Amino acid sequence: MCGIVGYIGDDQAAPILLKGLEKLEYRGYDSAGVAVYDGTSLQVVKAKGRLKVLSDMINGGKDVPGTVGIGHTRWATHGKPSDINSHPQVSDSGKFAVVHNGIIENYLALKDLLMKKGKMFVSETDTEVIAQLLEYYYKGDILEAVIKVINKVEGSYALGIICADDPSQIIAVRKDSPLIVGLGKGENFIASDITAILNKTRDIYRLNDNEIVVLKRDSVTVYNTDREIVAKEPSHIDWDVSAAEKGGYQHFMAKEIMEQPKAVRDTISPRIQNGKIVLDNITLTAEQIKSFSKIYIVACGSAYHVGVVAKYVLEKFTRIPVEVDVASEFRYRQPILDDKVLVLVISQSGETADTLAALREAKHLGARTLSIVNVVGSSIANDSDDVIYTWAGPEIAVATTKAYSTQLAVVYLLAIYFADKLGVLSAEEYADYVAKLQALPDKISEALENKEQIQYLASQFFNVKDVFFIGRNLDYAMSLEGSLKLKEISYIHSDAYAAGELKHGTISLVEDGTLVIALATQDALFDKMISNVKEVKARGAVVLGLTTEHNKKIEQVADYALYVPEFCEMMQPSLAVIPLQLFAYYVASMKGCDIDKPRNLAKSVTVE
Ligand code: F6R
Repeated sequence: MCGIVGYIGDDQAAPILLKGLEKLEYRGYDSAGVAVYDGTSLQVVKAKGRLKVLSDMINGGKDVPGTVGIGHTRWATHGKPSDINSHPQVSDSGKFAVVHNGIIENYLALKDLLMKKGKMFVSETDTEVIAQLLEYYYKGDILEAVIKVINKVEGSYALGIICADDPSQIIAVRKDSPLIVGLGKGENFIASDITAILNKTRDIYRLNDNEIVVLKRDSVTVYNTDREIVAKEPSHIDWDVSAAEKGGYQHFMAKEIMEQPKAVRDTISPRIQNGKIVLDNITLTAEQIKSFSKIYIVACGSAYHVGVVAKYVLEKFTRIPVEVDVASEFRYRQPILDDKVLVLVISQSGETADTLAALREAKHLGARTLSIVNVVGSSIANDSDDVIYTWAGPEIAVATTKAYSTQLAVVYLLAIYFADKLGVLSAEEYADYVAKLQALPDKISEALENKEQIQYLASQFFNVKDVFFIGRNLDYAMSLEGSLKLKEISYIHSDAYAAGELKHGTISLVEDGTLVIALATQDALFDKMISNVKEVKARGAVVLGLTTEHNKKIEQVADYALYVPEFCEMMQPSLAVIPLQLFAYYVASMKGCDIDKPRNLAKSVTVE
């Protein structure tokens, strides 16, 4: 996720671009840049770091004169944050400058092709391929070159393009990444979202996939890929700025919950090519994978809960024993490690002090390390032998949702990838799991459709004092996450238990009216869960049962039933977590809590 903005008109472009980028910084903040046409050529200035670094470099924009330009604030995906990897990316001759939000899935193949044609690449980004490809196809008609490029690239993109040969226009196009056009008088704009231009205009065009817009000082023309003009109806925006930043949602957490299908798709789909899982940056060989006698998973908080899911999933797929540890405990218990042990480290921020220390301890003791990280170039990513990035984009709400879901997605990818390398899956089984991975984002969208019922249930329970979450195996892992989500944002006391363990002590806390949320999404364990539900019902509990669509029997024992779509059991956690997140969110919202910044918590915990 990145932010893009563009301006064409009579005013100086750079200060307007910087103002717009300020509003988009929540979409990415590891580097920023602008390209402005100064009357003779494109001036490109970009820098690693927050927007302020760029702004100071160009004196608030005054040092880059010109009335047409594009700007970018970056959240690294391909290539670590650096000056060179920042956008705009430019073509060999400096003729084309491009800002991009999205992921070009086939960039390596295209880069290869262009290098064979003599193009020189300077960055590690997928975006540079677009700039070079534009120049390659350009024969005097910019629009034609853009159409050729979008016919060639696979993936998601919102692009802002300027060409030094015709600085009277900006060309923009989108597919699966947001982009709007701002309509002014004698000036026009593009932006990733309306916040960037709300101080200039409230009249916009929303672009559909593969609509190409040619933006001039006095006109805006939208084309389809057959070069036919598309008639667009402008919309008028009356949201305030803060609602606009959150995409119209009341909180970032709500926005991020709803972004999960896209985040999971962005994480999975570039890694499946021609029916095979491709983890191109991983240096682990099949021999090394075969040599592992044990896998340790180390993480904190929700990332640790992903680890608990991963234990079940990895053991099922690889039959290698897996242990999960909270990072703050792992390093102080003298773990037994050597080069036959893989230590898998999970972290959204890549900076959690306990997790980083555990990773360093594991390396020191000679283990092989692999991390699953969201922030490119973070300490954990840098220090691991291998890293697989989750492409969730920046997560602003303190309580994790989309990063958690993308971590789960990487766990499935990794488990199936390992199983394939170990030769334990038949070709049919492998193809079936890959198809399931590809179907997962749509299934998550389906699970998100049940918002109203969850909101109703939240209205029934937002006043409770205690909640117990129970489940078995994968549902136990989900109970841990459901319970953490609820307590951290709503301040309701809650705990999670392996359902069979409750009767060994905790059941003494269950009394008339105690809320028990019972998770029963695993068919093989469904009847066992029904027995556990009966046990707590007999002590007066009110039970909310969460299961899959066909397990209607839950209604005979639970007071309330919630259903998630049926899916591959190993990937069911990705669906079960959705109602748990929504329930926590609505309860916290009904209690009037500060959802995006819960008390006492920080997004990145960099102290032990
Ligand atoms: C809970 C949450 C935290 C983090 C934990 C680890 O919603 O977000 O429990 O999961 O602090 O953080 P990272 O993943 O950045 O290492």
